Amino acid sequence: MKPHTENAVTSVHRMLRSNVRVGDIVIDATVGNGWDTQLLAECVGHSGLVYGFDIQQVALDVARVRLGEGTGNVRLLLAGHETMRDHIEPHHQGAIRAVTFNLGYLPGGEKELTTKASTTMAAIRQALELLMPGGLLTVVCYSHPEGRAECESVQGYLVELAQDRFSCLRLQFVNQSGNPPVVFAVYKASDNGINA
Ligand SMILES: C[S@@+](CC[C@H](N)C(=O)[O-])C[C@H]1O[C@@H](n2cnc3c(N)ncnc32)[C@H](O)[C@@H]1O
Repeated sequence: MKPHTENAVTSVHRMLRSNVRVGDIVIDATVGNGWDTQLLAECVGHSGLVYGFDIQQVALDVARVRLGEGTGNVRLLLAGHETMRDHIEPHHQGAIRAVTFNLGYLPGGEKELTTKASTTMAAIRQALELLMPGGLLTVVCYSHPEGRAECESVQGYLVELAQDRFSCLRLQFVNQSGNPPVVFAVYKASDNGINA
């Protein structure tokens, strides 16, 4: 049997599992084939809500099938994540526990329909505002040639964030071949020094 090994996505899932609770409101900014959406739906349960964004109907359709019945409350939106704020109910703004991005293109889909630095950055700015104190943003960035500029934009923005408001972490497996993805995790400071 092949041994289980960790990768960028499994690491992000661990972070989400340890931060997201039943009843939380969360956002999957890049639904794709729905693996991350499914994980979030399991974490928030029926009393929570997952907002999911993708620009491709085919992605939302695949995700809907994966979610099936009984995997919590998921609102799949055919919309770019750069319009995120317009789709989040006013009383959920500032109350989002976690936002997750897995950048790039739909595995098995059209490579041209990939995330782009300008819209990704607009979405990340909105995501940080939408988070609750103590909330978590995760971004999986690909460091292959097509994804590198986007990854550099994300890092360039995060390194400038005020450290009394956000704690920004960069993770990368250093013994994986090729150009292993980079994970950014951003924790929004909580008012009372304890993650709410
Ligand atoms: C790497 S895939 C996501 C994988 C997914 N999270 C999963 O669990 O299978 C990236 C997705 O981002 C989507 N995408 C590209 N630009 C977007 C945008 N501006 N807003 C939302 N989604 C976008 C693509 O259509 C693609 O499905």
